[in-house]
Amino acid sequence: MKNIKMLVALLAALCLVLAVGCSKPAAPAAAGTPTVDKIKAAGKLIMLTNAGFAPYEFLGADNSVTGVDVEIAQAIAESLGVKLEIVDMDFDSIVFAVQSGKGDLGVAGMTNTEERQKTVDFSINYVDTVQKIIVPEGSTITGPADLAGKTIGVQMGTTGDLFATDEVEGANVQRYKTGPDAGAELAAGKLDAVVIDAAPAAQIAGANAGLVLLDTPATAEPEQYAIAMAKGKEDLKAVVDSVLEKLIAEGKIQAWLDEYNEIALAQ
Ligand code: ARG
Repeated sequence: MKNIKMLVALLAALCLVLAVGCSKPAAPAAAGTPTVDKIKAAGKLIMLTNAGFAPYEFLGADNSVTGVDVEIAQAIAESLGVKLEIVDMDFDSIVFAVQSGKGDLGVAGMTNTEERQKTVDFSINYVDTVQKIIVPEGSTITGPADLAGKTIGVQMGTTGDLFATDEVEGANVQRYKTGPDAGAELAAGKLDAVVIDAAPAAQIAGANAGLVLLDTPATAEPEQYAIAMAKGKEDLKAVVDSVLEKLIAEGKIQAWLDEYNEIALAQ
């Protein structure tokens, strides 16, 4: 009798092991969200940026990185329930740093280009802009056609750099680490013009006496900003896109642009 009871118990245990072992599918959440789960486990979302690009990212009064892109990344971090960590680096290193996993997101007023899409994936676009031209007061340059043969300052590795290098006949292109560095050189009389995105261009012109922003853009082609991620992180992209969609629909991005344009100009 005792033996039979033991046998039954043993069989029951065996059945349980088999049942659990064979029929329990892998948890769907774990399989579907590997990148998001990793970020949640780490407790932080790492944003790679270049903080010389007001109003999108710049050093605030307390010397920490602030701006429109920081607000956006903060909203993404909040939706993931983690804290935001910001790494400030050279702009032309961001795409490769994102690709190699040095951070989760490249949020840097980064234009969504086909060339960059070969290396990283982009979120939905969140800002429309154009390249603009800054010149010294009284300059003979009044539009892009006048840039031919001139000394043009740009931020290294940006779409402004590409424009000046590839599309301006005979330009002497001077590349700087940040847009404000180029602006300072222009104000010091060492350049004929600076080409950079519209909002930072207005900031640079506003911060340097004697510089003016031309109304006519450098390029007719508009550009769109998007957030860069390592390729194939579909679960992370879904979160980023849904946060961006919500922020755009609520008018938050435009409101932050207005707010940080003012804050940066007053600094
Ligand atoms: N939109 C331009 C580009 O993608 C310039 C971006 C510069 N951004 C920055 N954070 N410095 O090339």
